[in-house]
Amino acid sequence: MPPLTQTELIAAARAARDNALAPWSGVLVGAALEAADGTVWTGCNIESPTVIMTCCAERTALFKALTEGKRHFTRIAVISDFQHPIPPCGFCRQALLEYAPDCEVIMANLRGDVQMTTVAALLPAAYRIEDKC
Ligand code: THU
Repeated sequence: MPPLTQTELIAAARAARDNALAPWSGVLVGAALEAADGTVWTGCNIESPTVIMTCCAERTALFKALTEGKRHFTRIAVISDFQHPIPPCGFCRQALLEYAPDCEVIMANLRGDVQMTTVAALLPAAYRIEDKC
């Protein structure tokens, strides 16, 4: 199968958003992560009353893919109903840097605005355990 177009990857993220569990914030987020083999792993945010246990859409998608043995990733799309394309939070930036460092990040909103960046650009001067002496 040919790789998804950017529009299709965003559509996959948007469909995943329908399953978001966000009763506390009301912020529904969807993500779609493309592995290097072309498979696409979707995720939504899952909130918990134990706030620290909330899992963002991006990490849900990443953990699903990692659980199934995927190790190389090319693109991730994330979408929410924001005034501007939603950027990944700090936790997700760190997780993506650790497991999907070469990924392009496609940020979108429901109005059709789209912005592109990369995981590396989103987290400059990052903490990397590989740098330890
Ligand atoms: N959220 C995500 O799913 N991804 C992000 O990158 C930003 C935040 C979720 C977490 C929480 O459920 C809700 O949005 C409000 O912060």
